[in-house]
Amino acid sequence: MNEYDSAKIADVLIDRCGYTKAESAEEATLLIVNTCSIRENARNKIFSGLGRWRKIKEENPDVVIAVAGCVSSQEGENVLKQATQVDIVFGPQTLHRLPEMLAAYDQTHLSQVDVSFPEIEKFDSLPEPRAEGATAFVSIMEGCNNFCTYCVVPYTRGREWSRPQQDILEEITALAKQGVKEVNLLGQNVNAYQGEDANGEKSSIAQLIREVAKIDAIKRIRFTTSHPKWFGDELIQLFAEEPKLVNHLHLPVQSGSDNVLKMMKRKYTSAEYKEKVAKLREVRPGICISSDFIVGFPGETEENFNETMDLIKEIDFDQSFSFVYSPRPGTEAAKMEDDTELEVKKNRLALLQKQISRQAGRVSAAMVGTEQMVLVHQESKQKNGQIAGRTENNRVVNFDGPVELIGELVKVRITEALPNSLRGELIS
Ligand code: 5AD
Ligand code: SF4
Repeated sequence: MNEYDSAKIADVLIDRCGYTKAESAEEATLLIVNTCSIRENARNKIFSGLGRWRKIKEENPDVVIAVAGCVSSQEGENVLKQATQVDIVFGPQTLHRLPEMLAAYDQTHLSQVDVSFPEIEKFDSLPEPRAEGATAFVSIMEGCNNFCTYCVVPYTRGREWSRPQQDILEEITALAKQGVKEVNLLGQNVNAYQGEDANGEKSSIAQLIREVAKIDAIKRIRFTTSHPKWFGDELIQLFAEEPKLVNHLHLPVQSGSDNVLKMMKRKYTSAEYKEKVAKLREVRPGICISSDFIVGFPGETEENFNETMDLIKEIDFDQSFSFVYSPRPGTEAAKMEDDTELEVKKNRLALLQKQISRQAGRVSAAMVGTEQMVLVHQESKQKNGQIAGRTENNRVVNFDGPVELIGELVKVRITEALPNSLRGELIS
């Protein structure tokens, strides 16, 4: 979502204010950091980064420094107190107001702060989307009403709000005209989507995906991030009917322990999660499933952790994201007693990551010899004349082929599985 917002910030500045991209921070007249506050680490990095920008501003006082994103939402004016070199603070829902904030700063030289949640106004006032490559993010809903006890998102991005179907379809049609073949429909709680359809009726995400699939040039559809509680039968059934839905689903379970899930207020049990995955695999055998995991949630016992490890093996999760729990100000979990030492948590995380990487390695190895549809993104990073693209289950594949294929969907036979990528040969 932050990548999507960063692209929108760039669109606004280029379209509305005539900015161009600078080659380096030293050459820029405006420096913006788009921040994340999901874990403390990410938040702290921002302030050390701003320290480096202070020096740039000392040498050139005309440089304007802005802080965007969820840290701004959470800390508002306090950002200015902690980093006096900052001139503008705006949140995820006010990025479209940046031109006005820049103009006001220009006239008054007073710092500008706007971290409100005007929701619909944002999408109504964004310029035409600019595609960068064959794959694009498209925000379909924002915010979250779930209030999982560890999470800041409901506080930083506000309540759930869905964009009308028509707006989303127009955005995707515009992207398709610029060569986009794969869209990733975004939302913090994406399957709670309930935007209006053309008749003013509430539409589900499944109905929206059916409409997106009618756009010929769009060949692949992904959606992130799903909450298991809202991952329902209609969407599962769509995996049976809609071949444009990729053979991969990110469905974060967070923990395999019902105790921990309850403390997290995730609103499902490990058995319910397994049931949903089983249903999905019935209609899409072989679908790869990935997850997010939080290790060391307050009160997580060794036994609770082992339940997570058991679930990982049982579901056979593919490449996933995992983190040590990080207490976030203002959340319920931050007030819970937590007597597990950090060392223990780190050991649990290492065990979990080792198991996931073993399983992901097996998935990659099993792909050797198969034919895969690959969306070609770029020249290979190894600069050996090869090109690189991604499979439906998000593996990078390097193979011999002309650069003219960049942006195309091609058939590739997988010849070798490496730890972080695959090798293949072009079939068509
Ligand atoms: N500590 C650690 N991980 C967190 N996440 C969200 N909040 C926290 C936190 N306080 C993780 C969850 C979520 C992902 C985006 O970030 O796993 O799915
Ligand atoms: Fe945060 Fe996701 Fe829970 Fe919403 S559903 S509160 S975004 S973890």
